[in-house]
Amino acid sequence: MRTLKVALLGCGTVGSEVYRLLTRQSEDLAARIGARLEVAGVAVRRPGRARAVQVDPALLTADSMDLVTRPDVDIVIEVIGGIEPVRSVLLAAMKSGKSVVSANKALLAEDGATLHEAARENGADLYYEAAVAGAIPLLRPLRESLAGDEVHRVLGIVNGTTNYILDRMDTSGAGFADALEEAQALGYAEPDPTADIEGFDAAAKAAILAGLAFHTGVTAADVYREGITGVTAADIASARELGHVVKLLAICERRDGGVSVRAHPAMIPRSHPLAGVREAYNAVFVEAESAGRLMFYGAGAGGVPTASAVLGDVVAVARNLIAGTRGPDASTYAKLPTLPMGEARTRYHVALDVADKPGVLAAVAETYARHEVSIKAVRQEGRGEDAQLVIVTHAAPDAALSRCVTELETMDSVRAVASVMRVEGEGDE
Ligand code: NDP
Ligand code: HSE
Repeated sequence: MRTLKVALLGCGTVGSEVYRLLTRQSEDLAARIGARLEVAGVAVRRPGRARAVQVDPALLTADSMDLVTRPDVDIVIEVIGGIEPVRSVLLAAMKSGKSVVSANKALLAEDGATLHEAARENGADLYYEAAVAGAIPLLRPLRESLAGDEVHRVLGIVNGTTNYILDRMDTSGAGFADALEEAQALGYAEPDPTADIEGFDAAAKAAILAGLAFHTGVTAADVYREGITGVTAADIASARELGHVVKLLAICERRDGGVSVRAHPAMIPRSHPLAGVREAYNAVFVEAESAGRLMFYGAGAGGVPTASAVLGDVVAVARNLIAGTRGPDASTYAKLPTLPMGEARTRYHVALDVADKPGVLAAVAETYARHEVSIKAVRQEGRGEDAQLVIVTHAAPDAALSRCVTELETMDSVRAVASVMRVEGEGDE
């Protein structure tokens, strides 16, 4: 039986589980592929460090560039993360004909086009199922299973850390800071949680999803991004009263000859399938012309689940090598422009603390009318001389909604804007 040699770059949370599975399942993998996989080397930053898995010290190296350009290496698995030196190393690997499996959403979202081009030019494969939503088979379904359909919209919870935090805020009434602290104590959030809580991670994943779903090039820079640091207990309570829940959503839409791609917190109805996605789980809801509505759900992170997606890619790439072929490419023929956030059609929930006296509701409604925003629902709760006015709109350009809120903030009868949040998933977008 032929042997394919594998270079493993990174042996941390994901890499150590990839190594463990490559070793533990070697017989089954060989039977499924029709070739043995042999680890040719493991590149890490600190070869002397104690690891979660026992790696033959002779395999360890700090020189990933040397490892991937070795003539005996066939497949490179990259689970280091970050942009450089990884980009240079992967480009060199593909230039020397190696196929690449990566879990690196940051790199794929920033410069996926260069990597894909290198793969094409050198007859190599580039697979990255683990880069979005961990263990959930999602990129291959978008790239292959739905290749004959027209995807209109992708709506997903693709960051487990923020979903855990928002879920805790919803179920325990905790504020953001306490929920973050709890997530860190339980290992769901990194000591530096910036990439997750500021929405960078979800935005990178949204870029990858939009590119595959709509056959066009989308980078992280094209994605409108808002994190969850501004989500307050008042927002969560307001959502609850409306029968909604707050989620950090990656939203990719194809409309008006372009694509709208964004990652921000939004209220969704508790009856929506994504509302039931609890704790650190991920789920992605896809709406396609012929397939209708599809939902993908599962573990979006963690060493073992993510390693499952990496190994699935390794098997696919190895099978292609044995067959002397490449897997299907990501197509970008549609070349759609990215629409600015101001042109995205969104719906807003706004809770206003107002004076409870004649003309206030009329003045507030008049402000919405002047910005050409249609009101869908109004609820008022008396609080002595004051009242809380909750207004939910129909879909309108985001810029108009945002200008409307800015004006509401300046009105004499509005004491405070208690909560502003976009609303998704109600079906009249
Ligand atoms: P870790 O930080 O746990 O591991 C990173 C590994 O890369 C370590 O083994 C480290 O070496 C090694 N490394 C760092 N810099 C270099 C370098 N310059 N040269 C060689 N090796 C280097 O990261 P994760 O395993 O959590 O994540 C890896 C990738 O997988 C990232 O792209 C991440 O976004 C992605 N991912 C992670 C998920 C998760 O749940 N953790 C889920 C989905 C995707 P050393 O051990 O010596 O420090
Ligand atoms: N930090 C990410 C999350 C890990 O919380 O979902 C997987 O990409």
